[in-house]
Amino acid sequence: MTDNRVIIFDTTLRDGEQSPGASMNTAEKVRLSIQLEKLGVDVIEAGFPAASPGDSEAVRHIAAKVRRAQVAALARASEEDIDRAWASVKDAAHPRIHTFIATSDIHMKYKLRMDREQVVKAAVHAVRHAKKYTENVEFSAEDGSRSDPDFLCEIFGAAIEAGATTINLPDTVGYALPDEFGQLVAYVKAKTPGMDRIVLSVHCHNDLGLATANTLAGLRAGARQAEVTLNGIGERAGNTSLEEVVMSLYTRGENTGLTTSVNTREIFPTSRLVSMITGIVIQPNKAIVGANAFAHEAGIHQDGMLKHRMTYEIMEPETVGLSMTRLVLGKHSGRHAFRKKLVELGYDLGEDDVNKVFEKFKELADKRKEILDEDIEVLVAEEILRIPDKYQLDYLTVVCGTVAVPTATVKLKIDGKEAQGAGFGIGPIDAAFNTIAKITGTRSKLVRFSITAISSGTDAQGEVTVRLQENGLVALGKGADSDIFIASARAYINGLNRIEYLKKNPSLAPEERSL
Ligand code: KIV
Ligand code: ZN
Repeated sequence: MTDNRVIIFDTTLRDGEQSPGASMNTAEKVRLSIQLEKLGVDVIEAGFPAASPGDSEAVRHIAAKVRRAQVAALARASEEDIDRAWASVKDAAHPRIHTFIATSDIHMKYKLRMDREQVVKAAVHAVRHAKKYTENVEFSAEDGSRSDPDFLCEIFGAAIEAGATTINLPDTVGYALPDEFGQLVAYVKAKTPGMDRIVLSVHCHNDLGLATANTLAGLRAGARQAEVTLNGIGERAGNTSLEEVVMSLYTRGENTGLTTSVNTREIFPTSRLVSMITGIVIQPNKAIVGANAFAHEAGIHQDGMLKHRMTYEIMEPETVGLSMTRLVLGKHSGRHAFRKKLVELGYDLGEDDVNKVFEKFKELADKRKEILDEDIEVLVAEEILRIPDKYQLDYLTVVCGTVAVPTATVKLKIDGKEAQGAGFGIGPIDAAFNTIAKITGTRSKLVRFSITAISSGTDAQGEVTVRLQENGLVALGKGADSDIFIASARAYINGLNRIEYLKKNPSLAPEERSL
């Protein structure tokens, strides 16, 4: 394939979900897949069905929802895995089975305990088995960058012969350097029989911070599919970041001659959604989507910018969907303006959902002079991704300071009935959490707590994310408010509600994967 359009294969829902602490529930995954389709990715890798019942359930829901993009399900090179992948993905408008086996000597010897001949046989058998279900089969050579290049050509040739339509060369452990990875891709492309009939793909990890550079080197050497994740989330140091690859090709198209079909204006909203759903905060200096990516601090830079924007800006923030006219709505804004704003931000909500978020917006607007886009995104995430609540916060009062013992008084509704109590803690948030746990009789362990200001100024909204664990169930809780104690209590209660929900719907739990 010599086309200059690069296929964007998004694996945020599969490899991205393998980030420590990034597990998402089915509703969140479906919401994200709708946004990925809007972003314009070509392939959505929805999950690894053999890894857990929760994964196959999520892939099934995504396959039923996504209509334009291809939906891929991952499977090891075994009939059982492939059957499970197909059972989950078969209702997609454009399904793909993605099967893989390791090809490096170290993986074959110690992990698979198979020799080269057995591995080739397993790969061919897997591709043939997948082909019984669908025309669209991808084969990956795990740890490809540390494999013998001639063996790669042999196994890729055999997989193409067996019917693979995409061949993927991963740098699984993030070991490659850009020039050598580019050379490897060029070598495999030139020496593998049948390469002209299929799409060659690259999949890089970021252990040395080189995932984007390696992916670009692979594309320049002839690969035409890039496997990427939003915000670069993924196993260990993460995967190649979608926004970096897409914007490199967009900004330097004259140099690379390559394009994608991504709607770049959806990058920022999608990045925010991933961060909100996973609870993984984006580092401020992250390229393209970090809070400082378009901020100019130095006087000389600001002066240059005022004289001509392109002195210090290689991309316009609007291109990635970051609106520079940030203030929009306030307490006098009506439903119509609010709905327009939602559409502008990329949210296509039904009437009931608009009304729910609008109510919350009005409450916030009563407390704050200016409501920013980020505030609205948090409200949408809180209201629309919300699951039925067992516990609701009625009020919270905290007493703290240099001399007081931190104390919290909390009133909740539990299944609609009022319950209240008071308690102490090491700090005011600890006091609030202890009191909520006492009133609800819950024993969740708080394993993570993070707080970020989502807009600037002392009246900014604080966004709190907690991670709770109870009897093997894990749930994220989120809360936002201009008062960080209320935001924290909301996040904690949201986490407890999610644990309750998972107790009733165990198949939806983002389980610890068995693989
Ligand atoms: O990193 C890797 O090798 C993978 C494969 C399953 C494609 O994620
Ligand atoms: Zn990977």
